[in-house]
Amino acid sequence: MTIFNFGSIVIDNFYKTPRIPVPGESVRADSFKKGLGGKGANQSIAAKKAGSDVFHIGAVGPDGNRELELMKKHGINVDHVNYSNLNTGHANITIDPAGENAITFYAGANDTQTLERIKKGFENAKPKDICLLQNEVNLVLEAAKIAKSHKMKVIYSAAPFDVSHVRKVLNFIDLVVVNETEYALLLKAFGKCFNKPLLITNGSKGSCYLSNAENFRVKSPTVQPVDTTGAGDTYLGYFASNLDQKKSVNDAMEIASFAAALQVTRYGTSEAIPRLSEVKMFWKKSGIQTLALH
Ligand code: RIB
Repeated sequence: MTIFNFGSIVIDNFYKTPRIPVPGESVRADSFKKGLGGKGANQSIAAKKAGSDVFHIGAVGPDGNRELELMKKHGINVDHVNYSNLNTGHANITIDPAGENAITFYAGANDTQTLERIKKGFENAKPKDICLLQNEVNLVLEAAKIAKSHKMKVIYSAAPFDVSHVRKVLNFIDLVVVNETEYALLLKAFGKCFNKPLLITNGSKGSCYLSNAENFRVKSPTVQPVDTTGAGDTYLGYFASNLDQKKSVNDAMEIASFAAALQVTRYGTSEAIPRLSEVKMFWKKSGIQTLALH
């Protein structure tokens, strides 16, 4: 089985500041660094590190060679990442001493996907392969339709959240992934009419899976976070990969929780995503009893 990820590739600019500025305020940063990010690229890297074959479909600009090379270095297939005339997307990420962040995201090349290229990107997808989708690229609905025409299992991360996007894709996806804030917005918009399986991540408070057939709740291991950026992507990449490797939903959630908890103890997004061996070591040291990681 393989994971096809139609998703963003972004240059992340990190600014560590004493606090996140309020509107109208300018705050001096204590440090600055650049890294590879984007919800799509982060999820692809996490899924690859968790053990899956990953094909990334997306776009970078003329300034995106470094990001593309980094993805290749991680072992991700980027044959269907295209070059666009627009600059590579970027995100300015402000991180406070508690590890909380505020992000300004510019899509750039991520918004230049075309139907023809998406079709090509999914050409070799087989039934039951996993398709990952997020909202940082254009033509998500079209990608969901194409993935469904290949009978793939489509997992949609509704971030950045936009209820009109959720409404459009609902008939073409199998699982919606949201964080607690997005879940509240989802409930407000759909009420009890929402009838798709849902995976809700809630940071240090854990995650839960809700569907008509079964519900699961998984705790997060306790850690001291330094930067929570990309934790949701780490969780989702690990979760999808473990489903891809035929683990149960509950086991996939447990492994993903350990991976995300370890990721938030490090600065950065993609470069902070742990390898599977590190996740296993972290689990052993935690003393927490779970069968999922044996
Ligand atoms: O989810 C984290 C990601 O969101 C960052 O890597 C940044 O690129 C933003 O898009």
